[in-house]
Amino acid sequence: MKADLFIDKIEELVPVSGEGPLSGERQSTPFVIKGGAVAISGDRIIAAGERKAVLKEAEITGETLIIDASGKTVIPGFVDPHTHLLYGGCRHWEYEERLKGTTYLEILKKGGGINDTVRATRSTDDGELLDGLMKRLRILLKLGTTSLEIKTGYGLSLQEELRLLKIIKRAKSRSLQDIAVTLLGAHAIPSEYRDRREEYVQLMAGEMLDVARGMADFVDVFQDEGAFTYEEARKILKRAGKLGYGLKLHADELSSSRGAELAGELGAVSADHLTHPSEKGLELMRRSGTVAVLLPGTTFFLGSGEYAPARKFIDMGIPVALATDHNPGTCPIYSMAEIIGLSVRFLGLTPYEALVASTINAAHAIRIGEKTGSLAPGKQADLLILDAHSYVHIPYEFGRNLVETVIKKGKIVWSTEDPA
Ligand code: NIG
Ligand code: FE
Repeated sequence: MKADLFIDKIEELVPVSGEGPLSGERQSTPFVIKGGAVAISGDRIIAAGERKAVLKEAEITGETLIIDASGKTVIPGFVDPHTHLLYGGCRHWEYEERLKGTTYLEILKKGGGINDTVRATRSTDDGELLDGLMKRLRILLKLGTTSLEIKTGYGLSLQEELRLLKIIKRAKSRSLQDIAVTLLGAHAIPSEYRDRREEYVQLMAGEMLDVARGMADFVDVFQDEGAFTYEEARKILKRAGKLGYGLKLHADELSSSRGAELAGELGAVSADHLTHPSEKGLELMRRSGTVAVLLPGTTFFLGSGEYAPARKFIDMGIPVALATDHNPGTCPIYSMAEIIGLSVRFLGLTPYEALVASTINAAHAIRIGEKTGSLAPGKQADLLILDAHSYVHIPYEFGRNLVETVIKKGKIVWSTEDPA
């Protein structure tokens, strides 16, 4: 097949390919090619691997664009499977407050935290929210995030959650990235329902799920102390499952609250956070093939020091993914590379496990693992050229953006050579 793009002489190529989400040994065993190549036709990968093998599959013509990647590393584009990217306002004052010692839960219980961003989001018009979202998507692209998930959750009424879904839809049609959409109407009990929580749960489990059909791929619930209970989350997610939504859960983040258990029991696509999962919960997750999405940036910003027991997940054979959890309260991080950096220091992942967690496993956590997340023949050509001679430099050069070129669906969409 004729190649439109040929990336040659790659110092270190890491394709991260394999069937399904990778768990256990398959997540842990590095596979790295020295002096490899990648050939692309249109938006697809023809082949990625040893130079000779790639040249057997791909024909280089006078029209092929050839990139010399000597001294560089090539990896799949990052996938960020858990973000709260759409919000108005910001909460830097809350961070200052927390640095002085007030806890996140104390702020949340006083009606601040999530509800504060709800007030700011509701009072921001569509145009401004969309502009803000597009700006954030652009920041992510330059950091190498070629696919991601976006949650609603700062509207918290039928009308406002729908407004947010519509804004995400508009962003999706303009953005270069692949975007999975998650309805998180059950992010917090909005202040006007403080004394009528059952009514709010009923609204979320009923009408909200009906009207959001076709607009959201997933439904998520923040099940935790100060948020929704096991029973409430179960009611919402069971109905969501029946309607055909994929299920996600903010599970066991602030306290052990049977989140992993519920995720396993309902066969959720992912359970996220998991800083305090129960043994029973983990066993149920393993059996149901639920992906564990870990968010070390959040623990870092909460300053709790309570990181998820990631090694246990790997040892048990639960596929581990990483995400930023970008949100204005608990984690303003955009960069998946920084999350990888935190994960090797604080979760005990190896650099390779963390890379798998940020690409193919992250793609499976939002059900796009069949089309992207690894450099396998026939898959979408979403990849990064890094200014580094090894992928280990991602966590090692913590804080520097190593991304030199971003290729999305076979096109160069960002390059430090020629910033768009
Ligand atoms: O994932 N835990 C719930 N949601 C976010 C926090 C959102 C916020 O504080 O605005 C999280 O950490
Ligand atoms: Fe979150």
